[in-house]
Parts: sequence; structure tokens; C-alpha cells
Amino acid sequence: MRMKFITKPRTPLREDQFIDITVARFYDEHARRFMMPVYHGLVAQTAKMNLPEKRVLDIGTGSGILAIELAKAHPDWQIIGIDISDNMLKIARENAAREGLGDEIEFWQYSAEALPFEDNFFGLVVSNASLHLWTNPVKIFKEIARVTARQGYTLIWDNLRVTVFNSLLNLAGGLMGMKAAQRQLWLQAVHSSYTNTEVKALIDSSALQGAIVKINTRLLELCIQWKKP
Ligand SMILES: C[S@@+](CC[C@H](N)C(=O)[O-])C[C@H]1O[C@@H](n2cnc3c(N)ncnc32)[C@H](O)[C@@H]1O
Repeated sequence: MRMKFITKPRTPLREDQFIDITVARFYDEHARRFMMPVYHGLVAQTAKMNLPEKRVLDIGTGSGILAIELAKAHPDWQIIGIDISDNMLKIARENAAREGLGDEIEFWQYSAEALPFEDNFFGLVVSNASLHLWTNPVKIFKEIARVTARQGYTLIWDNLRVTVFNSLLNLAGGLMGMKAAQRQLWLQAVHSSYTNTEVKALIDSSALQGAIVKINTRLLELCIQWKKP
């Protein structure tokens, strides 16, 4: 039997909500404490990838944890993380330095709406938990398609919006040890995220047309997978 989720309309968050240093530090603590299994799962998806270019871009890298875990798993990849928040990038550089990867990963302050890279530059473009903040996802998809190399890959992960389980999410967060403010951060992110249908409609009107959307209802995640022809 297929599960059917009831959803309320999307409540978008502001793109720049992680600009403030206190919010950025709070997010970093939350991510390192609760999201490590998620990052490891994402990195596992890249295990057997044979990239046409070793350059990898992490969009909305935040405090850099995904970029760091990718660098650990693939020492031959050259990883660049970009973000609009210089405070997030400051924490990302600290996190990378602590892992001995300070010279390996580059962190640049840019918006994904205007990427400062040549066409076909990256063998892989990734992004986690950022799509739900983008003011103009179709514009960013166009930039992603442009900088992804031919035969290269794009993987965009984000939350899946389901609201029927609000109280269950709250409970699950509590059981995981999240404080009220951390549960609120998670719930707000889920409410700002897209449903399967919405994300497919976005893709169909974008340069990532033909991408596959994979849904993980257990982890409440979606993944846009695209290979550039
Ligand atoms: C919830 S955090 C996720 C961070 C990281 N990817 C992770 O998985 O932990 C989302 C990040 O996306 C960034 N962001 C939002 N809009 C952006 C844009 N247009 N271009 C680049 N980064 C953006 C935010 O500043 C924030 O640091």
C-alpha cells in the first residue's frame, strides 16, 4: 500500500536566515549533533561515482560538514563550498581546519544564482538542505546545469514537506535529544520544503528537465538526481 501524506501549503523561510553568527553557530551545533548519519548516507551515494572532472561544488555548504565528509571519502576530489553567509563559511573553515582539511577545501562567499565558474567546470554538484531556502530555484537550477560537466552529476538533497506528522516529528526530535529550539528549526525547515509534486513541477520548468526525483519517506528526504548529457 502506498502512503499518502496530507500537506499544508509551503511556508518559505528567508534565504538569508543563516547570516547571523548566533544562528550559524546554532545550526552548526545542531548539524554536528543530529545530522551526521544523514551526511554519511549522502556521501555513501557518491562512493562508486566516476566523475568526468575531479572538481566538486557544494552549494549552500553552510558549516561545511558535507564538504568535509566528501573530502575524507574522496581525497582526490577538489571540493569548493559556496554560501551566501560569511558567518557560515567562517565556521566551515574552522571545521575543516579541525579535521586537518583546511588546505584541501575552498569556501567561497557567493550566491548560487550567479556562480563564478566556467561552463562544464564540475564533475559533481551537490547541495543538502539548502533548496528550501532558495528564492529562485529555477534560476539556480540553470546555473547548476551550466557548471556541471558533460557526463557529470548533480545531487540535490532536501527535506520532504509532510505536515500530517507534525506532532510525531516533534516527538521524534525530542527522543533524539533535540531541545525545543532545535525541534523548531527542523520543523520550520520541513514546512519551507517542497512536496514530491512541487519539486517535479519546478524541475520540469527548468534546465534540470529530465532529472529523477527520489523520495525517502522514512527519512522524510527527497533527492534530485541529474546526469548532464
Ligand atoms: C540549512 S543550511 C544547510 C547547510 C549544509 N548544506 C548542511 O547540509 O549542513 C542552508 C544553507 O544554504 C545557504 N543558502 C541559502 N540560499 C543560498 C543561495 N542562494 N546561494 C548559496 N547559499 C545559499 C544558507 O546561507 C545556509 O548556510
